[in-house]
Amino acid sequence: MTSRVATVAFQGIEAVAVDVQAQFLSGQVQFHIVGLPDKAVAESRERVRAALYAIGLGLPGKRLAINLSPADLPKEGSHFDLPIALAVLSALGVIPPDFLNRYVVLGELALDGALMAVAGALPAAIAANGREMGLICPKASGAEAAWAGEDIDILAPDNLIQLINHVKGTQVLSAPKPALAPEPGVLPDLRDIKGQESGKRALEVAAAGGHHLLMVGPPGAGKSMLAQRLPSILPPMDPREMLDVSMVASLGGELKDGRLSRRRPFRSPHHSASMPALVGGGLRAKPGEMALAHHGVLFLDELPEFQPRVLESLRQPLETGETVVARANYHVTYPAQFQLVAAMNPCKCGMAGEPGHTCKKGPRCAADYQARISGPLLDRMDIQIELPAVRIADLTLPPPKETSADVALRVAAARLRQKQRFEKLGMAQLRINAQADGALLEEIAQPDSAGIKLMRDAADAMGLSARGYHRVLRVARTLADLDGREQIARLHIAEALSYRQKLAAFQVAA
Ligand SMILES: Nc1ncnc2c1ncn2[C@@H]1O[C@H](COP(=O)(O)OP(=O)(O)OP(=O)(O)O)[C@@H](O)[C@H]1O
Ligand SMILES: [Mg+2]
Repeated sequence: MTSRVATVAFQGIEAVAVDVQAQFLSGQVQFHIVGLPDKAVAESRERVRAALYAIGLGLPGKRLAINLSPADLPKEGSHFDLPIALAVLSALGVIPPDFLNRYVVLGELALDGALMAVAGALPAAIAANGREMGLICPKASGAEAAWAGEDIDILAPDNLIQLINHVKGTQVLSAPKPALAPEPGVLPDLRDIKGQESGKRALEVAAAGGHHLLMVGPPGAGKSMLAQRLPSILPPMDPREMLDVSMVASLGGELKDGRLSRRRPFRSPHHSASMPALVGGGLRAKPGEMALAHHGVLFLDELPEFQPRVLESLRQPLETGETVVARANYHVTYPAQFQLVAAMNPCKCGMAGEPGHTCKKGPRCAADYQARISGPLLDRMDIQIELPAVRIADLTLPPPKETSADVALRVAAARLRQKQRFEKLGMAQLRINAQADGALLEEIAQPDSAGIKLMRDAADAMGLSARGYHRVLRVARTLADLDGREQIARLHIAEALSYRQKLAAFQVAA
């Protein structure tokens, strides 16, 4: 008789249904796994055999065939251990098949029969819920899986014995509870930054509309400092966003103790990061930094120092909100709607444009350095600001009164206006202005007549492209939202225009 256990294989955040079938056959004593297993799945054989032996169940001297179906879908990871072990236990008659029918199973086995945490428990639980089944997973992954829904039946045993006892009714497992991660310490506060008022304003506007931000300035101006304070003014995630972010984090094995956090992700990969580190990939097509920054911030410090190929790989996700990881015979997509924040010096020596400074290499110093960032990537940065060196006079001032909490209130109010506007237009899937595209922008961001005139004049003078025009409108919409106004005025257009084309200005100055 063939016994069956349901489990999943991950393709991006999608959990594809996989059936584990086990059957004892006559013939040579052997334990065989077929159905495109990768190395970790093939090794499962040894772990399952040892774990069953540890709980006092030797395998009969027969040929044991395990099939992972569908046979043409690649199976990766160690989470197939538990479904394979349960399929064997069912074939041995230890666990009744009608019990297992109701569950999707995943988990890694230690040699002593203990269950180890696995990546992807949350997407697996959501998939199980969709199939109207429960979930059996290791105890360490239970808290994470419990977020899939209140009514889902989750069994999260510590080891195989506990599970068998539960089936027999001698020890009942209690359902795991969803847990929120404790807020890890206080975030760095905007109050620490002296002077740099225009930098702080730009950060607030970027936070309010989810706009991509580029900061250019000499060393020590406070660019990294400003970027690190962005999380402190961003609103917490709503439950839907939290679930989306946690699914990716779960697959990346990044959820600590299976606890979810409402704080937006802030990822800051080093400039030596490789393509797979950013886009995703590696052994199991894991999510990269872009996907891990979903609904949060991707901070690239020292932007021109990143490899050109890595920088170019940003372009597509910035447009589509997804990253695609290509594998030998299939590809995997992850959601990647992040806010890009980048910081850089204007030139290699760092000081181009500073009063009284001339680079040794002359204007080429800035031109060569900035040429590392392609025009199309630069064009996607809605807000570009110059951050001049901080003046000593500013540093001796007492700390500013305004804290991150004050700014966060204004950001939250502006975001609420945007959300309500999108809902009114029947586009509840959009939340922030950064997500609005051409036609929609023209509908929601009509400037008044003085604003239109300024826009026309500036478009001629600055040689604004169609994309550039929309980007100015988008930022102007956010500026009006921060002001609490529906109508976009000349003032808003003027400020939005001032946020464009900073690099070009530097090249002229140098
Ligand atoms: N506006 C400021 N107020 C208070 N301290 C500041 C300010 N700007 C810079 N500093 C001090 O200078 C240090 C360096 O700042 P930061 O690392 O943000 O500079 P940066 O602009 O990122 O420089 P680089 O281009 O070298 O990366 C900070 O740790 C802080 O001590
Ligand atoms: Mg820095």
